[in-house]
Amino acid sequence: MTDQTAPTKATPTLPDAQTVTSVTHYTDRLFAFRCTRPQSLRFRSGEFVMIGLIGDNGKPLLRAYSIASPSWDEELEFYSIKVPDGPLTSRLQHIQPGEQIILRPKPVGTLVLDALLPGKRLWMLATGTGIAPFASLLRDPETWEKYEQVVVMHTCREAAELAYGRNLVEDLPKDPLIGELVAGKLHYYPTTTREPSDRMGRITDNMSSRKVFTDLGIAPMDPAHDRAMVCGSLDFNLDIKRVLEEAGLTEGANSAPAEYVVEKAFVD
Ligand code: A2P
Repeated sequence: MTDQTAPTKATPTLPDAQTVTSVTHYTDRLFAFRCTRPQSLRFRSGEFVMIGLIGDNGKPLLRAYSIASPSWDEELEFYSIKVPDGPLTSRLQHIQPGEQIILRPKPVGTLVLDALLPGKRLWMLATGTGIAPFASLLRDPETWEKYEQVVVMHTCREAAELAYGRNLVEDLPKDPLIGELVAGKLHYYPTTTREPSDRMGRITDNMSSRKVFTDLGIAPMDPAHDRAMVCGSLDFNLDIKRVLEEAGLTEGANSAPAEYVVEKAFVD
């Protein structure tokens, strides 16, 4: 892991420009960065915005990115994959503190607490960079006030790819704002699928086989109390939806809250 921090803030010159303040590389495929936050930007934890760079044709090259920082944070944080031939991430991965990105200040999305009916236990189900919106939601006091239990399942191919989520979860009890709220409420269930580790297997399989309930010593899903938020690849989202529906949960939206909500993780 390498960290870079900006010595000073540069003056924005692009339209909707924000200045990168720090960059952290986790693996050769994953990195996170922080940037300044437009003063007027208000968002709900779990929402995404369009961010990017000026493309070779001089026009903005933008992609949807979940905001990974909590809504009370002075800065914004994003967590990204690096795709060698990806139009945006092939360049964004080289961003340095002090440089600028474009950020359209119009947050949207369905992975928000308001799109769920009240419940007792909240499941956060993520593959790969799909952990990003949960990084925001896990640091939001409202999550901990609304739910008695929060279960975070995060699955990646290799153990190193779990580091961003693991660091975040491990830091929660030390967080001055929510540390006390989290105590005794959080179950963290990270797994790998292509490298041996303490816990292995796809989220879908660990749920269908009920292994996750046994391992954590918790009750199986009950639509009366369980709520779920899903963020991963298209295939994962489709397969986990089936598992959740089989457990009796129905999909919600901002306009019609229900038992689970889904968002596609950013891919470039
Ligand atoms: P697997 O290694 O068995 O494909 P990716 O890096 O391709 O985005 O995948 C991230 C994680 O999501 C991997 O651990 C992968 O498992 C898992 N995954 C991919 N597709 C699905 C799916 N349809 N259902 C459940 N897990 C999936």
